[in-house]
Amino acid sequence: MMYLIAAIAGIAGALFGFDEGVIAGALAPLRRDLGIDPVAEGMMTAAVPFGAFLGAIVGGRLALALGRRRLLLAAAVLFVVGALLSAFAFGLWTLTFARLIIGLGVGVAAMMAPLYISECAPAAQRGMLVSIYQLAITLGILGAYVVGYAFHESWRWMFAVGAVPAIALFVGIFGLSDTPRWLAVRGREAEARAALARVREKSESDPAVKAEFAEILTGATQDENRKARLSDLLTPRVRPALIVAMGLFLLQQLSGINAVIYYAPTVFELSGFSSTTTQILATAGIGVVNVLMTLVGMALIDRLGRRLLLLIGFAGTAVALSVIAIGAATGSEMMGKLALGGLVLYIASFAIAIGPLPWVMMSEVFPLDVRALGMSIASLVNWGFNFLVVFSFPVLVAEFGLAGVFGLYAVVCVVGLAFTQWLVPETSGVSLEEIERHLDSGRPLRDLGRFTPRAA
Ligand code: BGC
Repeated sequence: MMYLIAAIAGIAGALFGFDEGVIAGALAPLRRDLGIDPVAEGMMTAAVPFGAFLGAIVGGRLALALGRRRLLLAAAVLFVVGALLSAFAFGLWTLTFARLIIGLGVGVAAMMAPLYISECAPAAQRGMLVSIYQLAITLGILGAYVVGYAFHESWRWMFAVGAVPAIALFVGIFGLSDTPRWLAVRGREAEARAALARVREKSESDPAVKAEFAEILTGATQDENRKARLSDLLTPRVRPALIVAMGLFLLQQLSGINAVIYYAPTVFELSGFSSTTTQILATAGIGVVNVLMTLVGMALIDRLGRRLLLLIGFAGTAVALSVIAIGAATGSEMMGKLALGGLVLYIASFAIAIGPLPWVMMSEVFPLDVRALGMSIASLVNWGFNFLVVFSFPVLVAEFGLAGVFGLYAVVCVVGLAFTQWLVPETSGVSLEEIERHLDSGRPLRDLGRFTPRAA
């Protein structure tokens, strides 16, 4: 049952990735058919993260009243409507509007799916399930690149394909109940107990189910009594956690990842790859590396520790971006090779650490009473800066060239190294309660968990 739930939530992650990545292949035929300027291109492309920003706000507000299940169903409907509207769009504005709708769906689903998993998952499997979600995002991106290659002449077909997993998501979620935790908070105790027994595949009278249900009920009453406020996040106790969660997402986005994910073929074109097919093929290669290195990151995360992995990630991305920037600035004859090698190194370093770790750490560092609120603020930072990068990329490239823009992202990655070194704690092998006690003690968060790497 847990695997079924993870698979369904995984579809939500894959849709997130698909809708980010699909524009990469669609831009060339769109430019040909609609003749767009850089500002319009940035706006249409960035409509997805912008919609997602709004979706995360709306989702956060409605999650309690409507429940996780209904919001996921609503997100699936938004995905289908948005996909079909983009496929039949008759101009740039309809397309921008359609992508805004898709974005709303992405924002709602990107928050509800991990929440649905974490509220149903047994504690011991939570971390692994969060990583599966990031893996699903990368698979969605790869899927979008493959679709872009298969339908390289028709952007309409590329967008239409997005409706298929969205329908699967709707059907899958339709058959599930809401989470035991949400049902309990709403006072629907009998349904909550039945839902818990179902996800644990045990009877309601099973002692383990009874004990877990009692715990959920206590948590639910406390939750109802205490609604976290924004000012709670700024207290000296929580502030260090907020800085780490927000800072990691800010750096993740300003490292330029989505300039690459959304515009990879454009980057290859600027680097001298002239045929559209070669550009899309090279882009698909980037998608494959992203998936594979996410798997490597998942295997290493508990062995090397969060901090070392992040330092490796930021060092790798800084070097890769500098190589591309220098190649572009000097007009090197080897620019095509430098761009390909540089982008592979860049994506590999990103996927191994900078992709998954902000998601993992944002679910670890906040104390329980403000965890949900802290996570929603952190995901707003994620979408806000995702939007900024995606919107500004075409404009910045037109103004400063690839060298200038990638040079800027490289500087951010160097800042990422310093941020990790001075502020990021080691949470590998530290229990959530221990993290909370450490925050309560007032000692610097960075001192947490002096981690000794485990021999492989
Ligand atoms: C980021 C996305 C990004 C993806 C790439 C995620 O962790 O939040 O913005 O597109 O990784 O794999």
